[in-house]
Amino acid sequence: MPVAIRQLHPHFVGEVSGVDLRQKLTPREAADIEAGMDQYAVLIFHGQDITDEQQLAFARHFGERENAHGGNVTRKEDYRLTSGLNDVSNLGKDGRPLPRDHRTHLFNLGNCLWHSDSSFRPIPAKFSLLSARLVNPKGGNTEFADMRAAYDALDDETRGEIEELICEHSLIYSRGSLGFLDYSEEEKRLFKPVLQRLVRTHPVHGRKSLYLSSHAGGIIGMTMPEARLLLRDLTEHATQPEFVYVHRWTLHDLVMWDNRQTMHRVRRYDQSQPRDMRRATVAGTAPTVAQQAAE
Ligand code: OGA
Ligand code: MN
Repeated sequence: MPVAIRQLHPHFVGEVSGVDLRQKLTPREAADIEAGMDQYAVLIFHGQDITDEQQLAFARHFGERENAHGGNVTRKEDYRLTSGLNDVSNLGKDGRPLPRDHRTHLFNLGNCLWHSDSSFRPIPAKFSLLSARLVNPKGGNTEFADMRAAYDALDDETRGEIEELICEHSLIYSRGSLGFLDYSEEEKRLFKPVLQRLVRTHPVHGRKSLYLSSHAGGIIGMTMPEARLLLRDLTEHATQPEFVYVHRWTLHDLVMWDNRQTMHRVRRYDQSQPRDMRRATVAGTAPTVAQQAAE
């Protein structure tokens, strides 16, 4: 059966049918899905009851796996998932929801802020593939914003002003905006800011997008308050309802997004109920800007 994609939003998002992610993809299917990602930036697959291994194997069609190291405050020995997937659930190693004051939970609440995955890494992520293994009964929708459409809608003056700007991104900025401020010396080293262009160009179709993220906390050559206000204004612009798609999860949905041309956030949900979401992350292949030489 050929891959079929139906567009769900005026700007982006495709719903895919005709693919079984438990099976190995044909080269044609993989190429159709990658082309769909370039065009729609978010793809939704329903009814995919997959294992961690099948999810990772599917992701590998689109590039290397991104190493999760440096992206959280969970100690290795406390990892619930050992398969290589990122744990985006609210669960501890014992399979139960984490206590509300647990450090991992407080850190993970940062996913409720608009962001692009791994924008705090020198080479940020390409695709993320999120599989719903257990859906929370209340809240927990995931929202996506089309950063190409947001860029296209800017006026010429703003485009000129931001074209060459370079931002500093760090997990310390996103978490800091929620008042999460205590880090070990090792975490501070791990979460050192990296540089990212504010406007990036898609390597396949060449459309520009606003490369925003809650991890962005400074702009080179600008004072902090000016930088933060500009980032806030642009984020407000880019996340207006006309650029946003709201995904309401059903069990075994798999949603795949391009971090180079979208932002996303999860909405608050009932923390006392389990929500098991697992993410495969496809590594990017190039930095958006040369990084400063290591100190
Ligand atoms: C992610 C993320 C949102 C969610 O997996 O990168 O931000 O719905 N998750 O859990
Ligand atoms: Mn994310």
